[in-house]
Amino acid sequence: MADRARLRGPEPVTVELSINHRTRILEIEPRTSLLDALREQLDLTGSKKGCDQGTCGACTVWVDGRRVLACLTLAITCEGREITTIEGFSDGRRMNAMQRSFIKHDAFQCGYCTPGQVMSAVALLDEGHASSDAEIAE
Ligand code: FES
Repeated sequence: MADRARLRGPEPVTVELSINHRTRILEIEPRTSLLDALREQLDLTGSKKGCDQGTCGACTVWVDGRRVLACLTLAITCEGREITTIEGFSDGRRMNAMQRSFIKHDAFQCGYCTPGQVMSAVALLDEGHASSDAEIAE
């Protein structure tokens, strides 16, 4: 009886993701979030898990150049799209202007969510939403 009552999950699926311009093939449960795929399967731990419910922004990455919350994004929905994480954000030797600015202005707080803040800040500029203090605050 106990065996019959045991719940079984869906079978793993194969997904092919382009992450930081590199193709990665994963076997994941369909319900796997992009954040869990990045952190737990690909060892890309720059994107942080804070709230895991779409509130804090620590998990922010770009999908096709637009900000997404990786904790609320299913990895399987990212097939055929370009994912950029903080690890793919610079050339690995030199920081970009936003990263240097965070250091210059001591903008780290505890530092845990800094990668998400950097990803979001650059996208904010790229999307043209930084023309005033009020717009930036929003
Ligand atoms: Fe907080 Fe994704 S972990 S918004």
